[in-house]
Amino acid sequence: MPDSKPVICAVFASGNGSNAENILRHARHYPQRLHIPVVICDRPDAFVVERARQLGVDCKIVPKGEEGQILNILEERGVRWVFLAGYMRILKPAFLQHFFDPALGVHRVVNIHPSLLPAFPGKDAYKQAFEAGVKTSGVTLHFADAGVDTGPVISQASFERLPDDTLESFRQRGMELEYKLYRDFIDYLAGAWNTEEKKWARH
Ligand code: GRF
Repeated sequence: MPDSKPVICAVFASGNGSNAENILRHARHYPQRLHIPVVICDRPDAFVVERARQLGVDCKIVPKGEEGQILNILEERGVRWVFLAGYMRILKPAFLQHFFDPALGVHRVVNIHPSLLPAFPGKDAYKQAFEAGVKTSGVTLHFADAGVDTGPVISQASFERLPDDTLESFRQRGMELEYKLYRDFIDYLAGAWNTEEKKWARH
C-alpha cells in the first residue's frame, strides 16, 4: 500500500490571486496526494484574501520581512512545498534553505514568472516584453533560488504576439499558460510523490 498521507503545500501571493485560485482548485483533484491548508499574503487588501476565504482556505497576512513568522506558520502545518503565485517579495536565502531538498538538488519552492526566462526577469515582465516588441513571449515555471527569477527551469510555454494585441490581451494569453504550467506541475507532483518519487527526483 502506498503511503496515503497527502503532501502539504502552501501558496504565497500578493495581489489578485488568480494563480493562487487556480492552484487551490486544481490541487483538490488530488485529496489523497496534495493538501494546501494555507495561503500566505503580505498585503491585507489583496484580492487573493477574498479568493482564499471563498475557497475556505486559511489566509495568513504576514508583512514584509517577517519570514520567521511565515516559517512558524508553515512548520505548524508541516508544509513541504511552497508555490509562489504572484508573490512580490524576494525570499531570503535562509528561508529558502529551509526547503532545500538534497535528493532533488533544489528548493521545494516553485515560482511562476511571466516571460521566457532568462529574458525579462523582474517586475512587469509582460509589459517589458510587450514594449520590447517581441514576436514570441511566454511563461516560465522554475525552482526558486537566491536570485531574482534565476532558479532552475521546470517548464516553459510560449505564445505569439498577435498584430492587434493590446498589453491586456497579450497578458491574458500568457496568464492562461501560467495556469496550465502550474496545473501540469501539480499533476506531476501528485502523481510522482507516492508512486515514483525517485523517478521524479531524477528529472
Ligand atoms: C502573474 O502574471 C505572475 O506571473 C506575476 O504576477 C501576476 C500575478 O497574477 N508574478 P495573479 O495575482 O496570480 O492573478
